[in-house]
Amino acid sequence: MKLFAGNSNRSLAGHICNYLDTPLGKANVRRFADQEIFIEILENVRGEDCFILQSTSYPANDHLMELLIMIDALRRASARRITAVLPYFGYARQDRKPGPRTPISAKVVANLITTAGADRILTLDLHAAQIQGFFDIPTDNLFAVPVLARDVKENYALENVMVVSPDVGGVVRARALAKRLDSMLAIVDKRRDRPGESEVMNVIGDVEGKDCVLIDDIIDSGGTLCNAAEALLNKGATSVTAYITHGVLSGGAVSRITSSKLKELVITDSIEPTSAVETAHNIRVVSVAELVGEAIQRTALEKSVSSLFD
Ligand code: R5P
Repeated sequence: MKLFAGNSNRSLAGHICNYLDTPLGKANVRRFADQEIFIEILENVRGEDCFILQSTSYPANDHLMELLIMIDALRRASARRITAVLPYFGYARQDRKPGPRTPISAKVVANLITTAGADRILTLDLHAAQIQGFFDIPTDNLFAVPVLARDVKENYALENVMVVSPDVGGVVRARALAKRLDSMLAIVDKRRDRPGESEVMNVIGDVEGKDCVLIDDIIDSGGTLCNAAEALLNKGATSVTAYITHGVLSGGAVSRITSSKLKELVITDSIEPTSAVETAHNIRVVSVAELVGEAIQRTALEKSVSSLFD
């Protein structure tokens, strides 16, 4: 098998190659003067089982286009099978019509990747599990929860931990973490009036005196998280830490986090951390390289991927 990567997350690609003990496939990914993308695969892939690592993170459209063109290049070079590995699947939050005459963009992106020639999808913590059904090709949705749970165990006194979902939609994810930590669960009941704004309404569960661990799939503006943290502290929580898989962190999110009362925000490297993230005093990055690398290896060897989470 061969692993190639676009430009979205070269450091994760490097770590995965180390885990797999294999060199990164040689490819030129560059721009013409007018910013059109050009890709050249620099080694023979005829009959090979090829994996392309590319998160469709900021700039989402450029990274998506790189992925599509790289799939096409491999397909035309007679790769036997192409797996698009998307540690972060951008556009996932647009998974239903929020109003009349609006698109379901996650479906459009799924169609684009499939039509370009991908045979399989490997992704991580999809915003909603049912997005797997947007693809008519086999799709494995990995969970970061084992990586996050291990980190909580290494860094926090578990007897005082309370896992918290920052909204009702995240309860399943939070319950999975609570189960692994054998801890209790609380829920922040959030109401969002306008897109981009969030408002905390209520905390379900007694968080007084607890070290709260918020878990979510995405942190974007940081509004959901900071409001949830505020609500928990107002209800008497001793501390609030957050574990979030995808650090989208757009706009002023990093400074919102650094000036918040959050003890720590832990994100994964599904999206390449910016230098602002790396230097933030209360943001830490844990790697999913081993998890994604193992899933790639199992896919290549036709072994079970789901048993990774038993
Ligand atoms: C929402 O359903 C997601 O799970 C996240 O809670 C949301 O995308 C976070 O966005 P923000 O950081 O902008 O509040």
